[in-house]
Amino acid sequence: MRELIYYIAASIDGYIADPTGGFDAFLVEGDHASVVFGEYADALPGHAHAALGIEPPKTRFDTVIMGWNTLAPALEIGITSPYPHLKQIVASRHSRAVDPAITLTDDPLALVRSLKREDGLDIWLCGGGELAGTLLPEIDRLVLKRNPVVFGSGIDMFGNTPYKPRTFTLTRTRSFDSGVVIEEYTCRSGALLP
Ligand SMILES: NC(=O)c1ccc[n+]([C@@H]2O[C@H](COP(=O)([O-])OP(=O)(O)OC[C@H]3O[C@@H](n4cnc5c(N)ncnc54)[C@H](OP(=O)(O)O)[C@@H]3O)[C@@H](O)[C@H]2O)c1
Repeated sequence: MRELIYYIAASIDGYIADPTGGFDAFLVEGDHASVVFGEYADALPGHAHAALGIEPPKTRFDTVIMGWNTLAPALEIGITSPYPHLKQIVASRHSRAVDPAITLTDDPLALVRSLKREDGLDIWLCGGGELAGTLLPEIDRLVLKRNPVVFGSGIDMFGNTPYKPRTFTLTRTRSFDSGVVIEEYTCRSGALLP
C-alpha cells in the first residue's frame, strides 16, 4: 500500500521554520544535497527542476499534500502550482481561489485515508506543522533532514497537536560532512500508546 511520508527539513530542536516562517538557517548546499536532488528530486518544486535543467523522476512520489500556510509563500511570489509534476492537494478550512492544478480539501485526514487505498506512488506530506499534526495518525514514515542548528523557537514539526505519543522505529541514519543527518523512521503499526 502507498505510504504517507513526512519529508522535511528540521532543526535539532524540531522546528521546520523560524518564527516568521523563514528557513534561511537550513543548509541548502553540502553533500546531503545528493539525496535532496537525487533520491528525493520528486519533492523539488517545478521551478527548481527548470533551473537545474532536470526532469522530475516521478519514481518516489506522485502526490503532495500541504497546508495553506505552506502554499502561501509560493503564491506571494507568483507561483500558483509549485509541484506541477505531482497531484497537488492543499488543506484549507476556507473557500480559496487556487490554480486548477490544485485540489483544495477541508478534510485532509479523510482524503489521505482514501488516497492510501488507491494505487500509486507514495504521498509526500510537505508540511507544515499544523497539517502534520492533523495527519499524524496516517503518517507511515518520517524522513527528517536534521540540520545542525538549534532554533530556540519557530514553527513546530507537528504544530500544537495535543500530547498523544505515537511510536516510530528508527530505520536508517545517514550523516553528512555538511552536518546534516537524514533520519528515517517507520511508524510501528498500532503503536499508539494509551
Ligand atoms: N522545513 C520544511 O521542510 C518545511 C516544509 C513545509 C513547510 N514548512 C514551513 O512551515 C510553515 C507553515 O506551517 P504551519 O504549521 O504554519 O501551517 P500549514 O500546516 O502549512 O498550514 C496551516 C493551514 O492549513 C490549513 N489546515 C491545516 N490543517 C487543516 C485541517 N485539519 N483541515 C483543514 N485545513 C487545515 C488551514 O488553512 P486555512 O487557514 O486556509 O483554513 C491552516 O491555517 C511555513 O513557514 C513553511 O515554510 C517547512
